[in-house]
Amino acid sequence: MKLFTYYQYEKVRKGERELKIGIDKIGFYTPQYYVDMNKLAVARNVEPEKFTIGIGQDEMAVAPITQDPVTLAANAALQILDDEAREKIDFVMFGTESGIDHSKSAGVYVHQLLGLKPNARTIELKQACYGATAAIQLAKGHIALNPESKVLVLASDIARYGINTPGEVTQGAGAVALIISADPRIMVLDDASAYLTKDIMDFWRPTYSDVAFVDGKYSNEQYLEFFGHVWDEYKEKTGLTIADFEAICYHLPYTKMGLKALRTILDEGSVDVQERLKENYQISTLYSRKVGNIYTASLYLSLLSLLEQKELEAGSRIGLFSYGSGAVGEFFSGILQPNYRDFLKIDHHTNLFNNRTELSVSKYEEIFEESLPTDGSSVDLDTTNDPAPICLTGIKEHMRQYTNKNK
Ligand code: COA
Repeated sequence: MKLFTYYQYEKVRKGERELKIGIDKIGFYTPQYYVDMNKLAVARNVEPEKFTIGIGQDEMAVAPITQDPVTLAANAALQILDDEAREKIDFVMFGTESGIDHSKSAGVYVHQLLGLKPNARTIELKQACYGATAAIQLAKGHIALNPESKVLVLASDIARYGINTPGEVTQGAGAVALIISADPRIMVLDDASAYLTKDIMDFWRPTYSDVAFVDGKYSNEQYLEFFGHVWDEYKEKTGLTIADFEAICYHLPYTKMGLKALRTILDEGSVDVQERLKENYQISTLYSRKVGNIYTASLYLSLLSLLEQKELEAGSRIGLFSYGSGAVGEFFSGILQPNYRDFLKIDHHTNLFNNRTELSVSKYEEIFEESLPTDGSSVDLDTTNDPAPICLTGIKEHMRQYTNKNK
């Protein structure tokens, strides 16, 4: 196996064989509860159109106490794992900004819950909403050196700004799991990429706080500035233009944000190109409109929405803009593969949305205020009402306890 890998690597190094690396599978999970944004607006004494048009959110996913970033990620990954993936995954990367431990990677819990093989690396990555993009780029390097391997990238977050705050309407909960491999069946990722880091305080969460601090207007401005910078640099590096893109997917803290960024570049294209990008943008926002912000997973939920809600031609190039406050931004792209829709879990995700339960605003507030003990005491949680296969069952002697009901 090692010789074969090295041989392949040598051929790639000498340019004799093009090693295609990218997204082989995409899984998604969001918890069973949601709040209607029209009703939240009424409760907050705001015109509903501000939330549904001005911000661009229809529903907001709410996690019960029995779902945390670990269980959300594990539930998202469960549906994309087959025997081959279990055998070949030797690297698990968990991008999150709502991690559960300052030391232990959330990925290690997921690795165990999914029954992955022990001969694997597992780490957690943090840079606000950018963590999973960093993981994907690192995964590409790992696959280039080990073409037979597969990497599991997890992006999982519960976005909490607080009740009756300006950010409340942009909360959400969910996870996306991606398998990155050679000869991927969904999307080959292009090698070129443009990225930027700048030390700014637009959004952060000190270790003593369970809600984020945010300068919302500043973060909107910086998002646009980062997009402009990496978009220009990407075009310079690749020679591509806006017309080369079938669609551009954005990190979506709320769906109006990506639209603001798209509008800054639309006049670079013909009327046809503008119409195509605007239409595909709307399709890429359909899932986020129902889920809200899921931080690290938001960009990939936008990609999933586009791929599952429209049949695009194989060979189409999709642009991806990732932004993580603090801040790091990156623009990269990928090419859709033949029959890519056969490898998506469209029915599974349709059922997931159809089986959700709406919460009244007061019930949502009650669930939002429920919290796990922070004084070191133990707790047992009742998971009978949680339909997710993988749930948090409590805390014992400072250790979170999980169950996989399918086992
Ligand atoms: N009908 C339609 N649109 C309306 C409206 C109405 N009745 N009332 C207001 N709006 C529009 C506003 O014009 C504005 O649109 P614009 O941004 O295109 O100008 C939008 O709704 C939001 O209104 P605004 O007054 O700016 O909202 P806000 O002060 O409550 O804050 C955020 C909005 C996004 C800054 C706030 O939700 C936030 O802090 N979110 C978290 C931070 C974040 O997500 N950052 C993103 C970068 S990662």
